[in-house]
Amino acid sequence: MSLFRYKVLLLVLFFLRSIPSIALVKPPEFDDSKKYISAHAGGVIKFKGHYFLYGENRSDHEQGVSIYQSSNISNWKYKGLALDINDVNKFGKGDYFVERPKIIYNKKYDDFVMWFHVEEKNQGYKAALVGVARSKNILGPYSLVSISRINKLFRPINGNLVGERKANLINRRDFASGQMSRDIGVFIDDDDKGYLISTTEDNATIAISQMGDDYTSLTGKYIRVQPGRYEEAPVMFKIQGKYYLITSGTTGWKPNGATLYESNKVFGAWKRLGSPIISKDPHDIKTTFHSQGSNVFKYNGILIFMADNWNTNNLAKSRYIWKLVQLDSSGKPRIYE
Ligand code: DGJ
Repeated sequence: MSLFRYKVLLLVLFFLRSIPSIALVKPPEFDDSKKYISAHAGGVIKFKGHYFLYGENRSDHEQGVSIYQSSNISNWKYKGLALDINDVNKFGKGDYFVERPKIIYNKKYDDFVMWFHVEEKNQGYKAALVGVARSKNILGPYSLVSISRINKLFRPINGNLVGERKANLINRRDFASGQMSRDIGVFIDDDDKGYLISTTEDNATIAISQMGDDYTSLTGKYIRVQPGRYEEAPVMFKIQGKYYLITSGTTGWKPNGATLYESNKVFGAWKRLGSPIISKDPHDIKTTFHSQGSNVFKYNGILIFMADNWNTNNLAKSRYIWKLVQLDSSGKPRIYE
């Protein structure tokens, strides 16, 4: 083979290597036994060369949190319930359901911690609690650590006087009982500090709260982001030293337009950058590709935005949307068609 042909072959191989990884970014649909994957509003975590997809198990009533394993994010094997709702009920002595679970790995203690939104059945999301469970095994079972409101008796770093009056009043009202926490996200910074991001103050505000070093509790250090803008489904990530947040609006299970925020510090001033969606179709921008964000994860150097395409008639039939996050010409992350 001539040197020229050899170089052309190398180039072709290089492109073939990068194309499949993009082509592989398909949202999950069926597991290896041809069953619909039921892992809503969760995330993907990589550990020891394997990917683990987890989320709300809505296949047959609310059962808790299901988990799937894959080596390539295409073929998923069901590994059972990581968190069983019966264990949550037993621990909290109530009749609960859980939403938006998030699993993080704690390097220092070499264990996994799961955070999740906890509500009492038929109580209209009034409880607004957050649950924490931990396990030595990524697949679980996770043992309950706590179910509670957040930041009880702690004042926000940026105060509760700036922002919408109603949101401020709720923050002051809940100072003694603990702040509400509905939709959640989690974020681990490069210095290993963990953060819980919650929809709080009756959905008016996003709170970012610092976790203790074992990630199972909060330190009481928190800020309020955009009090009074009514956003939920917070997804936080970091690119090239900058912090980003993507949120949805608050229209229940119906899709709406996402918002992107940027900050130089976790506890800094979060700046609103508008919609993160890039598409020729304005409907994609208005509806976030007909979905609501749940997480971002890295796969072969590519950042993937995971979202839920809720089926409002039958939540068990909800599907998933996965899209690439890439930097636009001004260096801001955008979610592409
Ligand atoms: C939208 C949230 O993002 C979901 O997680 C869920 O709590 C629904 N609201 C309930 O209406």
